[in-house]
Amino acid sequence: MPDREIAYDEMLSAMGRDLLPNAIRKLTTLLGRRDVISLAAGAPSAETFPLEELADIAARVIRSRGQFVLQYGPTRGPQSLLEAIADMLKGRGIASAAPSRVVITSGSQQGLDIASRLLIDPGDVAMVELPSYIGGIIALHNARAEMVGVRQDEGGIVIADLREKIARLRKAGRRVKCVYTIPNFQNPSGVSLAIERREQLVAAADEFDLLIVEDDPYFDLAFAEGVRPQPLAALRPDRVIYLGSFSKVLAPGLRAAYLCAPEALATKAELAKEGADLSTSVLDQAIVLEALRSGLIEKRLPELRRFYEVRCRAMLDALRRFAPAGARWTEPAGGFFILLELAAGQDANAVLTQAIDAGVAYVPGQPFFVDGGGANTLRLAYSKETPEKLAEGIARLSRVLGGREHAGAV
Ligand SMILES: Cc1ncc(COP(=O)(O)O)c(C=O)c1O
Repeated sequence: MPDREIAYDEMLSAMGRDLLPNAIRKLTTLLGRRDVISLAAGAPSAETFPLEELADIAARVIRSRGQFVLQYGPTRGPQSLLEAIADMLKGRGIASAAPSRVVITSGSQQGLDIASRLLIDPGDVAMVELPSYIGGIIALHNARAEMVGVRQDEGGIVIADLREKIARLRKAGRRVKCVYTIPNFQNPSGVSLAIERREQLVAAADEFDLLIVEDDPYFDLAFAEGVRPQPLAALRPDRVIYLGSFSKVLAPGLRAAYLCAPEALATKAELAKEGADLSTSVLDQAIVLEALRSGLIEKRLPELRRFYEVRCRAMLDALRRFAPAGARWTEPAGGFFILLELAAGQDANAVLTQAIDAGVAYVPGQPFFVDGGGANTLRLAYSKETPEKLAEGIARLSRVLGGREHAGAV
């Protein structure tokens, strides 16, 4: 055997050479210590997993249909699940939802990867919220999109900023293909797109002839009883690739999620998926279908919403008591996340090791900002820890950040 070193880098594609690490997943290696309170993990609380019900369903589907659910399945997903999801989406106001528009994906993360690969040629522009979900940024990056950040305020995307930037890019001869948005209880900021801006966003998509990639895994997790956000796909289905997931309302280990898109794009998505995984786990899809049909998911929603609302309140209360002077934070109406913004000039990344030593972890905000901003921001997830630990975690964080430490300080 020749002992020549192999230059693997030279064998890689441009994409392979330029893969981005996921800043959050990298952090999890630092979180092995049991005494660290994690405000970093954006995962649902494992306490919410309906273990007994899922064990019963899994046993039942394997016993009764094992030869089917353990076999390869259709790439798009079984017709029964496509129908159940189309019905569910009609319930969200997406009247055009139909099995011919739905494709099951292995997590909505795969939907992001497929949508990015379908729409983007290297150098095409994708408009992305500031801040945005890191997995969406990675998918667009891998497709070699140029991402241009759009400002958000407490009402989500600032439409005037979006319009201005698209107009400028087009004038410069750039091809703007899509807007990537998480309109409800956004990861990482917790903000939601204001109702009137939803109309304005789809109107901008019409005017500039763009598609919208609508990433909506937190749809069901509004805290207020009866709140059903209006999907952009309900307003303009022919302009939207809608991505949904059961990860936050059932269990993320069941990797059966979905996309809903105009038929021409759904057909392409099915072909792109064929080359990626042949099909999503048939067993996972069968379990999710049973969970939908039996009403297990719907039945648990009120309790889930209360569960996360209590945690969100605990974190907000602790922030009010302990946050350092000059800090501001978002006040989500659902979902898992609060974005904390420190006074200008502070660097959330620089104090992370110190925070972990003090027994609390968070995700520094910068990787969520495609324009390189956000150095003074932190993503705080309230989904994983108990309310007591959340309060203690914020108190520890405040000691590191030089915040106030007594009740009534505000
Ligand atoms: C905004 C957003 N999109 C997509 C995903 C991926 O979810 P999954 O692949 O589990 O469906 C997540 C997970 O945290 C998310 O927060």
